[in-house]
Amino acid sequence: MALKLNQPSFQCPKISPFGRNQPTLFRSPTFLKASTLGAPPLEVENKKKPFTPPREVHVQVTHSMPPEKIEIFKSLHTWAEQDLLVHLKPVEKCWQPNDFLPDPASEGFMEQVKELRERSKEIPDEYYVVLVGDMITEEALPTYQTMLNTLDGVRDETGASLSPWAIWTRAWTAEENRHGDLLNKYLYLSGRVDMRQIEKTIQYLIGSGMDPRTENSPYLGFIYTSFQERATFISHGNTARHAKEYGDLKLAQVCGIIAADEKRHETAYTKIVEKLLEIDPSDTVLALADMMRKKISMPAHLMYDGQDDNLFENFSSVAQRLGVYTAKDYADILEFLVGRWNIEKLTGLSSEGNKAQDYVCGLAPRIRRLEERAAGRAKKKGTAPFSWIFGKEVQL
Ligand SMILES: [Fe+2]
Ligand SMILES: [Fe+2]
Repeated sequence: MALKLNQPSFQCPKISPFGRNQPTLFRSPTFLKASTLGAPPLEVENKKKPFTPPREVHVQVTHSMPPEKIEIFKSLHTWAEQDLLVHLKPVEKCWQPNDFLPDPASEGFMEQVKELRERSKEIPDEYYVVLVGDMITEEALPTYQTMLNTLDGVRDETGASLSPWAIWTRAWTAEENRHGDLLNKYLYLSGRVDMRQIEKTIQYLIGSGMDPRTENSPYLGFIYTSFQERATFISHGNTARHAKEYGDLKLAQVCGIIAADEKRHETAYTKIVEKLLEIDPSDTVLALADMMRKKISMPAHLMYDGQDDNLFENFSSVAQRLGVYTAKDYADILEFLVGRWNIEKLTGLSSEGNKAQDYVCGLAPRIRRLEERAAGRAKKKGTAPFSWIFGKEVQL
């Protein structure tokens, strides 16, 4: 049945947020205001267009991988069955959120909740900002499964496809689902955060999607996921370390067990890219250079809570200041992947491939130098209120 998409409240005289092939479909209200065409009156009234990302996303390139390359992924079915799916854990051997939470069916539930809340009091607000941001990132999982299913040659064609790529994506999603679930319940019980604001942010974020610029190409897509799994491994590892420093060993365990999953997923995704480098080195290293030139965007970069237009930047600043996820980590991940994939040692590349190899191999030190210079120039950032912690101000 058709949804009532054209009701007056959602309608805009010239630019329907739901219209097809509308050049301004994903553009932000800021863009509309700046437009020389002038914004239609309704757009001026509505600060945010409903159900669109909070800001402009890039020009959207689709299906950049030549269709004949789909054969490569078909030819890798046996490899994926034997070498990729082994990195999944059988459900019966997986931890579940309930293992790390007070069990509501147990006698001691109330007592355990009380203890959790006592421990939570020892942790500063700024830590919660980062933990909430990480949790929201995990909670936008529908977007990541969608993203994987945009990739040509590996998508789940039916929703229950028996291709090993589809099996991987569904089981990966099912494993990841425990992450947001566990963090969400833990934070809920802590009583330290504004759950309604957090829930709104999750709804906004899933509605906005993400813009990883992977162009339906599994080359780009699996480079992106390799990077991201390592980024989340680092970030959850750091929130675990901080929780331990604040004396909350249970929370440290929660973040640590999630980090361990991310590490396993990183192993799997980096293995796919390693395989692509073996079969098709030039185009794979070109894909790596392409992703790095475009910069790896964080999955929750379109985050919005209905209030703060700079929410993602503010959250990232706090994560940077606390050392949970930093610009240095970005360069370190790149350097790690370049080493993991032996990029420097690749031979027999096309001339374009050689250029991409040089670019990628020299990039991490360059990013570090630029970062150091930027850090030297950076002024103190001041503070920002976060709705997730009832509008309290946190140093950026
Ligand atoms: Fe995760
Ligand atoms: Fe992950």
